[in-house]
Amino acid sequence: MKKVLITGANRSIGLETARQLLKQGYYVYLGARDVSKGQDAVEQLKAEGLQHAEVLEIDVDSPASITAAGAKLAEKTKVLDVLVNNAGISGGFPQTALDTAAPVFRQVFETNVFAVVGITQAFIGLLKKSEAPRIVNVTSGLGSLTLHNDPSWKYYSVKGPAYMASKAALNAYTIVLAFELKDAGFKVNAVDPGYTATDFNHHSGPGSVEDAAARIVKAATLGDDGPTGQFFSDDNSPETGISPW
Ligand SMILES: NC(=O)c1ccc[n+]([C@@H]2O[C@H](COP(=O)([O-])OP(=O)(O)OC[C@H]3O[C@@H](n4cnc5c(N)ncnc54)[C@H](OP(=O)(O)O)[C@@H]3O)[C@@H](O)[C@H]2O)c1
Repeated sequence: MKKVLITGANRSIGLETARQLLKQGYYVYLGARDVSKGQDAVEQLKAEGLQHAEVLEIDVDSPASITAAGAKLAEKTKVLDVLVNNAGISGGFPQTALDTAAPVFRQVFETNVFAVVGITQAFIGLLKKSEAPRIVNVTSGLGSLTLHNDPSWKYYSVKGPAYMASKAALNAYTIVLAFELKDAGFKVNAVDPGYTATDFNHHSGPGSVEDAAARIVKAATLGDDGPTGQFFSDDNSPETGISPW
């Protein structure tokens, strides 16, 4: 049974991603910074008949928590097949380049970028033991620098500098990670789940968590002939599903 770790899996897109991967036969470790919330999510899934789930405590903002989670998972399994870096924050909207304070940028980068670096490095040993390792970094369509320079883009005026810069940085990290792991059988991709109705945006998004999670699951379950180092976004590029960086 293939094993997957999803950060921020106690609710919203992360929880639905867990549900869909469980339905595909994966064993899912639901990352949660609050174990009781993670356990509630596990119980919910088990009540739906999805038994192969358990919570893994991980506060992605805490290097000590990441290290402890890495050690704990290594006690439970010798192999990790899929890592989904899903936990993320917006830093609150509206944001402007002139008025949003530097500490807001710092906090958003901590959760959306630096945590992904720490988690990837903490779990890479287990991932390298997989025959077909996959890493999915959950980004945003707003992380496209190319489209932010295109006045005809539908989200052109939605700048949110702390959030968009953090996702652009996450995209850059994804490119380099995919490059470094390209000869080791890995598929490393950035996936925009689309503008989705969750707590993240007070349920203002038009998309469903089912559709958002399906996009992540697609990248998490890519075959050996699948791409690596891509920025998948059905919202940015409905024709190709590949967004410009
Ligand atoms: N919703 C959208 O429209 C949209 C669009 C594009 C991209 N995204 C991206 O999709 C991902 C998931 O978004 P969402 O809409 O599901 O967000 P959400 O409803 O706000 O849920 C966020 C999840 O991340 C967890 N989390 C946040 N900070 C954490 C930390 N320090 N340690 C551990 N877990 C943490 C939360 O845990 P708690 O319950 O403990 O807070 C929660 O489980 C994010 O990366 C977001 O940037 C979302």
